[in-house]
Amino acid sequence: MSSTGQDGTSADFIVVANRLPVDLERLPDGSVNWKRSPGGLVSAIEPFLRSRSGAWVGWPGVAGEEVDPFEEEGLWLHPVTLSAREVQEYYEGFSNATLWPLYHDVVAPPVFDRAWWDTYVQVNRRFADACAKIAAEGAVVWVQDYQLQLVPAMLREQRPDLRIGFFLHIPFPPVELFMQLPWRTEIIRGLLGSDLVGFHRPGGAQNFLWLARRLVGLEPSRGAVGVRTRPGVVQVGDRTVRVGAFPISIDAAHLDSLARRKDVQQRAREIRADLGNPRKLMLGVDRLDYTKGIDLRLRALHELLDEGRVHAEDVVMVQLATPSRERVEQYQLMRQDIEREVGRINGEFSRVGHPVVHYLHQSVDRKELVAFMSAADVMVVTPVRDGMNLVCKEYVACRYDLGGALVLSEFAGAAAELTSAFLVNPHDLDGVKNALHAALTVDPAEGRRRMRALRRQVLTHDVDRWARSFLEALGAQPAS
Ligand code: ADP
Ligand code: G6P
Repeated sequence: MSSTGQDGTSADFIVVANRLPVDLERLPDGSVNWKRSPGGLVSAIEPFLRSRSGAWVGWPGVAGEEVDPFEEEGLWLHPVTLSAREVQEYYEGFSNATLWPLYHDVVAPPVFDRAWWDTYVQVNRRFADACAKIAAEGAVVWVQDYQLQLVPAMLREQRPDLRIGFFLHIPFPPVELFMQLPWRTEIIRGLLGSDLVGFHRPGGAQNFLWLARRLVGLEPSRGAVGVRTRPGVVQVGDRTVRVGAFPISIDAAHLDSLARRKDVQQRAREIRADLGNPRKLMLGVDRLDYTKGIDLRLRALHELLDEGRVHAEDVVMVQLATPSRERVEQYQLMRQDIEREVGRINGEFSRVGHPVVHYLHQSVDRKELVAFMSAADVMVVTPVRDGMNLVCKEYVACRYDLGGALVLSEFAGAAAELTSAFLVNPHDLDGVKNALHAALTVDPAEGRRRMRALRRQVLTHDVDRWARSFLEALGAQPAS
């Protein structure tokens, strides 16, 4: 694919996401540092986009910062400025206290605030304008995620020449829940500005088609949508909009090769040694989000210890939790809950120098993360709802040795693909306890059989395949 002009304008392939792949950090001396942005969207798209040239339009992660476009290893980054009020109303408010809980099955009550909606509209327009300004004639624009659902229609209005794709990285909710949203029709109309709307699962695509009929009065196709095949179709004036399912994935080969490195394996042994070489090491890795079920897994561990089915001298659990959306109330409540539970477990079951739960409210770098995953006997992934969940796929990609066991919630999109995991209903505490116990005590041959099946799936369905299948359906398949 050809790419971008000398100054970053006139791009013919553009990703638009709320965040840039890097976050700006102002150091005390006033200088600037860029660090990797949190979350699965960046984990998935960044390696794909870096292997091609293109442009990325997004917010640098700090309020009020005005930064000129710059090039980083062949990728043009175009920062969009958000004021402190916009961060509060568009990002923390409408995106993360309205849409995020609404789309995740209302596991926390969504807040419906009219001022937040107005700011969401205003900021979506700014992203659309930024994109319209740098897109070359006939360019492909790939809009990402729930923060920018109005961008496709806004962009189409200004630039009908563009080919516009939209991908939702989180679940698309059941229609009964979506219908609660006071601005439901505006959101559906916004998405219908795309040539292709993509979801992780066929169910999301089906829900969207139903809403296009009900709220906009269109006549969508009625056939079942397949995975990467048989997209739904809906005619909007003289345009045809396709609606499909494209389960996202990870750069599996890269993680596999990182895990095989001697220094990473050495680090994995060091981690185990630092933890006192426990017989079994359990690991959780999440953004600290109330959808991830971190509280549930801690509760399950607590009861297993209480009942003597798991012994504190045998088992250590490490929970890595990236700080996330810390000014949103539900996140503060969940953090208190988790930290209280960690305190309770350690208070009741630890010995001096040997805590049962090691809780790090921190982000670690990729190499360290792979070392943790290589060291862990049981990876615990228990979201109450997750669009896909990449952590479970990352764990599988790291286990070239066929060691380790994966406990995975049925309510993660990934469960549809990773059927050889120990699947659990996270709402069923006894079920979670049984699955943890089964994973901790699995017969090694059975464990290897499961991991082999999981790896077959993850290594053959990587992020490159995801991106290619989406762009192909968009009619914009780039040359490699
Ligand atoms: P989400 O996008 O909701 O955060 P995913 O599981 O899809 O959830 O993606 C999370 C990404 O963030 C993964 O790539 C994971 O490795 C990374 N991640 C999560 N927690 C940490 C952490 N504490 N340190 C480093 N990386 C983390
Ligand atoms: C999820 C969302 C992304 C988001 C990421 C991190 O992956 O789907 O859109 O970027 O979480 O969340 P944050 O609010 O820090 O951008």
